Order: sequence, then structure tokens, then C-alpha cells
Amino acid sequence: MEWKDNSVIMIDQTKLPNSLEFVTFTDFNQIADAIRTLVVRGAPAIGVSGAFGLALAALQSDAEKKNDLISYLENAKRILFETRPTAVNLAWGLEKIMEVANQATTVEEIRINVVETAKKMAEEDIQTNMSLGKNGSELFNDNDTIMTHCNAGALATVAYGTALGVIRATKESGKNIKVIATETRPVQQGSRLTVFELKHDGIDVSLIPDTAVGYTMANGLVNGVIVGADRILKTGHVFNKIGTYQVAIMAKQHNIPFYVAAPLSTFDLESNPEDVIIEQRKASEVTGIGDKKTAPDGTDVINPAFDMTPPELISGIITENGIAKPPFQESIKELFAPN
Ligand code: MRU
Repeated sequence: MEWKDNSVIMIDQTKLPNSLEFVTFTDFNQIADAIRTLVVRGAPAIGVSGAFGLALAALQSDAEKKNDLISYLENAKRILFETRPTAVNLAWGLEKIMEVANQATTVEEIRINVVETAKKMAEEDIQTNMSLGKNGSELFNDNDTIMTHCNAGALATVAYGTALGVIRATKESGKNIKVIATETRPVQQGSRLTVFELKHDGIDVSLIPDTAVGYTMANGLVNGVIVGADRILKTGHVFNKIGTYQVAIMAKQHNIPFYVAAPLSTFDLESNPEDVIIEQRKASEVTGIGDKKTAPDGTDVINPAFDMTPPELISGIITENGIAKPPFQESIKELFAPN
């Protein structure tokens, strides 16, 4: 994802793996649509998209007074914020831009500063992922096979990835590693995106149906699990792609370490588990695969996009500031302590 000539360029993830297509947006409403329809997805990627969306909004508005521009931005922020409720990075990206806009004194200053801040956030995302990748690379050994769920890779961030960033850094440190990627029904971020991304980088990857997690673990094919996160609470509760909870339980049953990799922007130190809204998505994602119908018409569906993994199933949370280990209440606090 990139800011270029006052527009935002990103990969259309709905087209992968069949074609690698780039889309260009000049209107914040297009960014809101892209987030809603999963053209762009993954917590850090939608955080930066939200920031880019507000930067576009600042350029789109013809306001000549600070108050008018701020009102225009507040409205754009609301539209962008309502696209997806679970990933906290979206609110984080939007708030950061609004802060910068409110601090500026003239409309010109607002426009320049929000564009520069959004661009900086995109650059920082890459650095953050490389740092957390390096921190996590010490957790795995030569010849390990690592399972991952969904896509927490370059596609889900600006570049490099979080969970896949750790996998990339482990490989770059000279260790020979293999990856097992779950398919991740119903939208198949695992098969469509993670496998695409890892094959593109020449990293050994095998795809499994979600239902083979138990089989591969029970048969000694998995040495560790690493996933990303959409929101992490101060207690260590992790919200991530639906199915993460099942993978974590299965890992516990087989004594396999289960790690979460995420930047500090994914932490929500205010909310309690019951406050977090789990996005419910449309039934057609479950009653079909792509355009092909796989369930009778009129089938009732429950389709939550995320679930919550409790801290007792998690071996460590890898961030750019280090690795938090249980008990998380203490170790998460330390991640945020100045130096
Ligand atoms: O619905 P998605 O594809 O946006 O869900 C993405 C995930 O659950 C990722 O694991 C998470 O956002 C972390 S991405 C680095």
C-alpha cells in the first residue's frame, strides 16, 4: 500500500491469487468501500488505510476555515470507522490523524500535516514489523514447522507482516523453517493470501483444510503456532480471525507453543472482553465458496469474523518492544512502560 501523487495505491486482495491487480483511490469513500469489501484487510493495513483515507478527505474538502475542515474530517472519520468494528488499529489510525489535524492552525497546515503523518505511519509500520519479526525469530529452531492461521503477512500490513514477519525474520536469520497454513474458511485468507505470499517469497508452505489442525498436531507435524491479532486487551485476551481459538485449544492439548505477533497499535488497554464487538459478516460467505453455492437456499447462518482466545492458551505475545510472557497483566504493562 502506497501514497503516491495525492492518491492511495493498494493491491486488490479480493482478486488474489488469480490475479495481482492494483487499485488507485482519490476519495475517502472509496477507501471505506475497500475496507468494507475486504479489498484491503488485516488490522495494521486497515489502520494505515484509515489514516490515508482521512488524508484524502483533507485534500478533497474545499473548506477554507479550520472549523469547516475539521467537521469534514470528523464526518469522514465516522464513515471510515464504521466499516469494520473489531480491529482496534482502525480507530488508532483515525485518532492519530485527527489529533494532528486539531493541532494545526490553518487549513493549509492541516492538509500538509495529515498527509505527512499518514505517510509516516505507513513507513513506521514496516519498521515495526521488522523489529517484531526479529524479536520473534529467537523463538523458533532450525527445521521447525510453524502453523499460521488467516493472513497476518505483508498483505495485512504495509509490508513484511506480523506473524509472517516473524516467519520471514526466522528464515532471514539462517534457520530452515517450513510453514503450515490453514485454509481459513469462509473467506480463505490462508489459502488465497498466505500461501500466495509465502510462495512468492520462496518460503516452504503446505496448505491444510481448517479441519486438519488436530491431525497435523497429533501426528507431530507442528512445532509452534504463530498468528496475528485484531485487538489485544490488557489481560492478554486476543481477538483474531475466526478459528484462532480452536487452533489455540488444539495447540494446548498437544503441548505446542502458541504465539501471537502484533504491534503496540493493536492493544486496547481500556476495554474488557465483553465490550469488544465481533463483526458478523454476510451469510453468502458460508453458503458458498466464491460464486459456487454449497448450501441449500434459505440456510440460516452464524458467521462471526473473529473470536477471542483467552490468555491461558497463549505462550507469548511478540511486539516491537519485546515479547510479553504470562502473566500478561504484568508483562503487557511493561511493554508500554517508557524504556
Ligand atoms: O477479516 P480479516 O482478513 O481482516 O482478518 C484478519 C486477521 O484476523 C489477521 O490475523 C489480523 O488482522 C492481523 S493482520 C497482521
